[in-house]
Amino acid sequence: MDNKVKFNTKNLDLFYGDFQALKSINMEICENEVTAFIGPSGCGKSTFLRCLNRMNDLIDCVDIKGEIIFDGKDINGDIDVINLRTRVGMVFQKPNPFPMSIYDNIAYGPKCQGLKDKAKLDTIVKDSLERAALWDEVKDRLNKSALGLSGGQQQRLCIARTIAMNPEVILMDEPTSALDPIATLKIEDLMQSLKKLYTIIIVTHSMQQAGRISDKTAFFLMGEVIEFNETPKIFTNPDDKRTEDYITGRFG
Ligand SMILES: Nc1ncnc2c1ncn2[C@@H]1O[C@H](COP(=O)(O)OP(=O)(O)OP(=O)(O)O)[C@@H](O)[C@H]1O
Ligand SMILES: [Mg+2]
Repeated sequence: MDNKVKFNTKNLDLFYGDFQALKSINMEICENEVTAFIGPSGCGKSTFLRCLNRMNDLIDCVDIKGEIIFDGKDINGDIDVINLRTRVGMVFQKPNPFPMSIYDNIAYGPKCQGLKDKAKLDTIVKDSLERAALWDEVKDRLNKSALGLSGGQQQRLCIARTIAMNPEVILMDEPTSALDPIATLKIEDLMQSLKKLYTIIIVTHSMQQAGRISDKTAFFLMGEVIEFNETPKIFTNPDDKRTEDYITGRFG
């Protein structure tokens, strides 16, 4: 049985000036699943991901048509964008810890929201680091700079920082592309445990990764979603010839 629909886009078009980067995207993304976006460079994966927490608002000359329904409400309408970005957190390609201690990296968001109680902050820091599978590695150095962590640890710290805001959805744009294979596997394992609590949407250039970790996969090509289905179906028996050509490495 399918999980509850979290995001539902209807005829979503996005233009950067005259250039149409997304073409009539209709997609349902379900709760407690990992959804992967694959496709060649420049096909619109990051653009679509950024639509889901209105990060494209920060880019000039973007024009969006169609609907993005999140929990029943169109997020392009009159909504609280800060609140949306709390509910829909984002992890970027390059780990970007703040130049402060490990503890403060995690406590920063809750503090900005007005939380001052030290005991509560301590709990959030510990819980978030545990959920991001980093606690054991950093529990004895919480007051040391986050910049002293390895790349893979920094990325898990960024995931913990997102978790500390208690999001419902976590967007990840190529979160392991800067990491070695072992750090990558740790993040992949982590996603399997996180999807029990959150909705995870990940952009990846690695077919192996999409195959290993996602429940559903969308194949993008030149701004269109060519095929969106259960991951095993996409990788073993795709309906569209272009999907098959891409996953077998014939182009892209
Ligand atoms: N800020 C921008 N202004 C103008 N055009 C943009 C902007 N951002 C992206 N584009 C264009 O929109 C298209 C889709 O870009 P996008 O970054 O979404 O692709 P992508 O699938 O994430 O690619 P990659 O795999 O290389 O990250 C590309 O043609 C890109 O040049
Ligand atoms: Mg991208």
